[in-house]
Amino acid sequence: MPDINPQEFRRALGAFTTGVTIVTSCDADGTPVGVTANSFNSVSLDPPLVLWSLAKSAKSLAAFSDSGHWTVHVLSAEQEALSDRFARRGEDKFSGLETEAGINGCPLLTGCAARFQCRTSFQYDGGDHLILVGEVVGFDSADKAPLVFHGGRYALATKKTGALNLEAADEPHSFSEDFLGYLVGRAHYQFLDGIRAELAAQGLSDPEFYTLSTLLQRGAQSRAALDQMLQHSGFAGLMLPLERLLAREMVRETQQGDATRYGLSASGRRAVLFVIAAAKAREADLLEKLGDWDARVLKNLLKQMIALTDAGSVEVWRAAQGSTA
Ligand SMILES: Cc1cc2nc3c(=O)[nH]c(=O)nc-3n(C[C@H](O)[C@H](O)[C@H](O)COP(=O)(O)O)c2cc1C
Repeated sequence: MPDINPQEFRRALGAFTTGVTIVTSCDADGTPVGVTANSFNSVSLDPPLVLWSLAKSAKSLAAFSDSGHWTVHVLSAEQEALSDRFARRGEDKFSGLETEAGINGCPLLTGCAARFQCRTSFQYDGGDHLILVGEVVGFDSADKAPLVFHGGRYALATKKTGALNLEAADEPHSFSEDFLGYLVGRAHYQFLDGIRAELAAQGLSDPEFYTLSTLLQRGAQSRAALDQMLQHSGFAGLMLPLERLLAREMVRETQQGDATRYGLSASGRRAVLFVIAAAKAREADLLEKLGDWDARVLKNLLKQMIALTDAGSVEVWRAAQGSTA
């Protein structure tokens, strides 16, 4: 017997990236059963064969080994919660789910990237698992981003365009076009370039726009609170933008007890909404070109980068609009 540490073995297996499936069938009473499985793989094109393996400890073992048919649902990226539901042992996994009738009368799940309805061809003993090989008798697929599993966690997959050029990025002394600071900076300025015309039309500088949009998001603020909220934009020390916005009557000063607060006037609100509309149109255009899924991957990575580099900024976005905190 080789000396294998189970945790290390499991971790090493996790290096193999897979999709995620839910395999379903019916038990002898016709009650649907289903399990989340990433052991699925293709086997043969002619005849069309696929396989997966089921733990012998699974509650659904008898149903799968006896029924003679099962359906593999390849999950889309939106179906993480469904994957979790079918990975929980034995509960009523189908309750409240929208389903369709399959070839064998068992329910099919909807919203998947692909579905393969199979008749059992072979069953093999596989240690603590049962290996099921099935002949595909029906399938369908949709153009959906897949749910991915890697290293024991769900992951996002994105299509690669051209070479990744990882060597250049890894070089300690290189300062190439792969330098992250350059990429983020250039992406930021090129994005803003698309709304420069609207900023100019409203007569707003970048710090003035950030000031107005923060007031739109958070309502009237004291000067100190506003200054704090703008830390993350790089436009702290607001004296100038605020004085100019007051002079142009885009911002109004109000007195609450001892505290002076600054809030949007109607013309300030109007100006910032025009710029935001231009920015949203710019975003929509870019997202359409990127594609829905890559856009989500990009936003996810940018949020991670923001969290990793944040020196403790005041959270502008989470507060309810109109708050004066
Ligand atoms: C991503 C993922 C992949 C899984 N892959 C398998 C698999 O290939 N085979 C298996 O037997 N269990 C697998 N499981 C665990 C089963 O989904 C889980 O044990 C399930 O509760 C079994 O259902 P049952 O006991 O109600 O029949 C996986 C779980 C997750 C989250």
